[in-house]
Amino acid sequence: MKIAILPGDGIGPEIMAEAVRVLRALDLPGMELHDGLVGAAAWRVHGHPLPPETLALMHACDALLFGAVGDPACDGLERHLRPEQAVLGMRKELGLFANLRPAKVFPGLEAQSSLRPEVAGAIDLMIVRELNGDVYFGEKGMRETADGQREGYDIMSYSESEVRRIAHAAFRTAQGRSGRLCSVDKANVLETSQLWRDVMIEVAAEYPDVTLEHMYVDNAAMQLVRAPGKFDTIVTGNLFGDILSDQASMCVGSIGLLASASLGAEQTAYGTKGAYEPIHGSAPDIAGKGLANPVAMILSAAMMLRHSFGLEAEAARIEAAVASALNAGALGADLGGTMGTVAIGDAVLAAL
Ligand code: NAI
Ligand code: MG
Repeated sequence: MKIAILPGDGIGPEIMAEAVRVLRALDLPGMELHDGLVGAAAWRVHGHPLPPETLALMHACDALLFGAVGDPACDGLERHLRPEQAVLGMRKELGLFANLRPAKVFPGLEAQSSLRPEVAGAIDLMIVRELNGDVYFGEKGMRETADGQREGYDIMSYSESEVRRIAHAAFRTAQGRSGRLCSVDKANVLETSQLWRDVMIEVAAEYPDVTLEHMYVDNAAMQLVRAPGKFDTIVTGNLFGDILSDQASMCVGSIGLLASASLGAEQTAYGTKGAYEPIHGSAPDIAGKGLANPVAMILSAAMMLRHSFGLEAEAARIEAAVASALNAGALGADLGGTMGTVAIGDAVLAAL
């Protein structure tokens, strides 16, 4: 079980240290952790945010734990040398097309949500966002119109196979949850969405145990703050998923609590190869101060055990330990508490 440990920049190394302590505490037979450099940390040593050494490590490992990248010292660099290119490069290089973002309110933290506690308390959903297609990857450019204005354009497109593979990932995710899948699109106006909806319906035939419903994205945005507890698994395209997953995740209280998995088609001897990272960035404003909440990183490690190694019981153990530590008051400044990164890690380890 080879795991690449890629802490990156800013708070990345601080939160990764806690996730590694939790993984080591499980004492999993055959687990090997291999350190690698990404982001500004890699640029300083190798002159590139995603150097060949790191790419080779990513290919050689069964799963990747990724902290965060981004460093204000790199702001003046050309775009291809900026730390953030490491995330995009990793997803592209490894063909990671399915982004899973769970959002759930932990018991005791209902009042931290921006929603009313009784509304927030019901949130337990999973967004499956397509990651390799859509308007982000279509032809784009700037041109001049006949009457001499500047005109920017980005082409939105999805092929059948791109929709089909994310559909299967979403139906399987829904099977492992409550069996309800909501596909979010804009099929009333977009051709890409019409294809999306048609393919979702075709694939649904292979999953008779999952109930599929469709929702327009504007309505979904509204329902996510009106009655988020009604959702279970949501599947949507890259653009809609980018926006809705940030919106849904923020309903749970702090960005420092939210983990994610990015999965591709590659199967290893243990499960699906993937990269696991918190949804937040390198938080340069609090880096080096021992203040970062390590929970998102620790929960990312749990997702890794579940999806890349089939270790459901161990993943659930970590999640239960986090929930119990939070409920007992292991809160950092982001949640109105006073605990630092290491103290929160200690509390999770004690609960584990
Ligand atoms: P950010 O997520 O790093 O920080 C936003 C705010 O949340 C800050 O006030 C920060 O202190 C706080 N925060 C974030 N994580 C926290 C944690 N674990 N515990 C407590 N507080 C936390 O986003 P920002 O400031 O927009 O970006 C900073 C850098 O990170 C930029 O260079 C950006 O490009 C990069 N970035 C990298 C990502 C990645 O590696 N996947 C994702 C998002 C941003
Ligand atoms: Mg986003």
